[in-house]
Amino acid sequence: MQLIIPRRLLSWAVLAVALSNAAVIPNTTTDGDTVDALGGGPGQYDFIIVGGGTAGNVVANRLSENPRFNVLLLEAGQSEEGLLEAQIPFLCTHLTPDTPYDWNYTTVPQQALGGRAIPYPRGHILGGSSSVNYLIYTRGTSEDYDRYAKVSGDDGWSWKNMQQYFRKNEKFGPPVDNHDTKGQFDPSVHGFNGVTSVTLPGFPTPINGRVLEASKQLGGDFKFNLDMNSGKSLGLGWVQLTAKGPSRSSSATSYLGPEFRNRPNLHIALGAQVSRILQTGTESGVPVFRGVEFRLRSGGPLQRLTASKEVILSAGAIGSPHILLNSGIGASKALQAKGVKPLVDLPDVGENLSDHPFGGVVFNVASNETYDDFNRNSEVRAQAVQQWRVNGTGFLVNSIVDQLVFMRLPKGDKALSMIKDPAAGPNTPHYELLISNGKPIGDIPPEGHFATVGNVVLQPSSRGTVKLRSSNPFDAPLIDPALLASAFDKAAMRAAVRSTLQFFAAPAWKDYVIGPIGVSAKSTDAEIDAYNSAATNTIFHPVGTASMSPRGAKGGVVDPDLRVKKVRGLRVVDVSVLPFVPSAHTQVPAYVVGERASDLIKAAYH
Ligand SMILES: Cc1cc2nc3c(=O)[nH]c(=O)nc-3n(C[C@H](O)[C@H](O)[C@H](O)COP(=O)(O)OP(=O)(O)OC[C@H]3O[C@@H](n4cnc5c(N)ncnc54)[C@H](O)[C@@H]3O)c2cc1C
Ligand SMILES: *[C@@H]1O[C@H](CO)[C@@H](O)[C@H](O)[C@H]1NC(C)=O
Ligand SMILES: *[C@@H]1O[C@H](CO)[C@@H](O)[C@H](O)[C@H]1NC(C)=O
Ligand SMILES: *[C@@H]1O[C@H](CO)[C@@H](O)[C@H](O)[C@H]1NC(C)=O
Ligand SMILES: *[C@@H]1O[C@H](CO)[C@@H](O)[C@H](O)[C@H]1NC(C)=O
Ligand SMILES: *[C@@H]1O[C@H](CO)[C@@H](O)[C@H](O)[C@H]1NC(C)=O
Repeated sequence: MQLIIPRRLLSWAVLAVALSNAAVIPNTTTDGDTVDALGGGPGQYDFIIVGGGTAGNVVANRLSENPRFNVLLLEAGQSEEGLLEAQIPFLCTHLTPDTPYDWNYTTVPQQALGGRAIPYPRGHILGGSSSVNYLIYTRGTSEDYDRYAKVSGDDGWSWKNMQQYFRKNEKFGPPVDNHDTKGQFDPSVHGFNGVTSVTLPGFPTPINGRVLEASKQLGGDFKFNLDMNSGKSLGLGWVQLTAKGPSRSSSATSYLGPEFRNRPNLHIALGAQVSRILQTGTESGVPVFRGVEFRLRSGGPLQRLTASKEVILSAGAIGSPHILLNSGIGASKALQAKGVKPLVDLPDVGENLSDHPFGGVVFNVASNETYDDFNRNSEVRAQAVQQWRVNGTGFLVNSIVDQLVFMRLPKGDKALSMIKDPAAGPNTPHYELLISNGKPIGDIPPEGHFATVGNVVLQPSSRGTVKLRSSNPFDAPLIDPALLASAFDKAAMRAAVRSTLQFFAAPAWKDYVIGPIGVSAKSTDAEIDAYNSAATNTIFHPVGTASMSPRGAKGGVVDPDLRVKKVRGLRVVDVSVLPFVPSAHTQVPAYVVGERASDLIKAAYH
């Protein structure tokens, strides 16, 4: 691999660090000596993408399809290559928190969670959160996207128009055990020629049959839904996961697969942490932000580069608003108070954070066939990993959840009379149950076997914030996801717990479920609220911190074409632009935001 780094830009000392990390893999055809100092001549790069995460890698791939575009991708983390935990789907819980692949953020104390400050994982690795997430593939409902279209004033974000992008993204394939998938998904709503691989669980889990039996017995809200990615997600169905055969498919393995990674006009700098976007001038009185400031290692010297066309900010729902604030783009008064020179007054930067609270109930079960022994016994673990390595089989090919339920609060529920229904529409779920054959998260007791239902509040009314901690751009921001902060969110979590208890009381679980731990059908609302306050964390789905709004609207951070308002040369392309959290896990929304944004950018430079 040819490795040429612009000489004027990097000292040999810095280059050596980059090399020893196998960190920088640019492949330039020029001698690299053309990089301009900030404010100098035309940039060597047409586009500079900040953040090689889920959406950022889509943009890197699509823009570099055009050989005339020279694209630089700056990613703070290292390569995902060779990292077993990132390849084995079931090991997803081992990748965060507090690992080299995590930004290691902690929230501010959460009032509704008994004052706990909780870990707030974000992928710090090529592929971003798609390299460390739990692989669950969910798009959201048609109403989620139609609401994006409505509040942004751009029909391009509608469910109907986004179909082309789901298909460009998705490459649905057979599960690794090649079982008959008839009746487990609806092929007519999927894409088979896209980039990121999607499949069904490739190993039968012992409780799968009972889950389906309970669905039949209970019916109603638990009725079987053939495919939750059809735009209508209510009911119980099979998880689809972002995997290819036995291995995770991330934006790094798919959009930056070898055939793309080696494009001569795509340059990828790893270990490159961006501190600020820099103003490079004005055009017709409008400030232009085409400069980036970054360092290649902790404590390293700051480097600067300019894009000739655009800087694309894809640092995620925490990173993107953080970088904007560091750059003087945000609420001017608040910036001044932190000692950052305000350049562009955009008060919604870092506001409107919308996330999914995540709690759940653990049940004692009469079985030896849960994966709890894997979690506490190193011999069992070594054997399963060996089977995955040698044969690519076994339960490690699955994520920690095979079946899930999307549910609404019952019509007439008190919670729905408290406020305007925060759901995107009448067919959009308020909460979700994620069914696990064991206790997948948290400490595992030395004895006992378990089943767990993760409870997710999908359409919270609470809004949180990302704010500056200090004027040092390398200090972590202050993150407040406002989990369970509203009475509605508490009521939705309570309903999720009651639905969970109802589900496991179905006859299908007789002789299997011994009983729930810490909460029961006899618990009062107040008792369930207290339980939830202690049991709730996040399921890692923040959005909204650089929200889109109609062109010319007063609020919001970006236009519907994702250009940052009041400036030129800068877009945000990641889930921070979504004005509401979808009723789904957020990786598919990140992929399709990346796909549509790429089309918008290409159209602008046609
Ligand atoms: C532990 C976990 C589990 C999850 N499970 C699921 C799941 O099962 N299903 C699902 O659909 N969703 C899941 N999600 C959520 C989903 O993965 C994310 O919403 C989505 O991937 C976000 O995409 P993004 O492009 O907005 O940001 P990211 O993918 O996070 O990308 C941001 C990138 O920018 C880089 N970056 C940030 N700041 C800087 C900087 N200053 N300089 C340079 N680079 C920077 C980061 O390192 C990262 O690579 C999970 C998330 C986590 C953290
Ligand atoms: C780098 O670019 C050159 C010229 O296009 C190409 O021949 C070569 O294969 C590329 N190298 C790598 C490692 O991608
Ligand atoms: C997160 O914590 C781990 C473990 O302490 C550490 O190795 C890693 O470098 C930290 N990540 C960052 C981005 O600082
Ligand atoms: C679990 O294994 C133990 C020890 O082998 C056995 O005594 C017990 O009956 C098993 N329980 C179930 C529910 O299979
Ligand atoms: C791989 O599969 C073969 C055939 O089923 C089996 O005999 C062998 O034990 C497996 N190897 C591992 C490490 O699981
Ligand atoms: C942000 O939140 C405020 C207050 O909740 C709201 O008025 C505004 O419309 C939101 N803006 C966007 C762009 O979502």
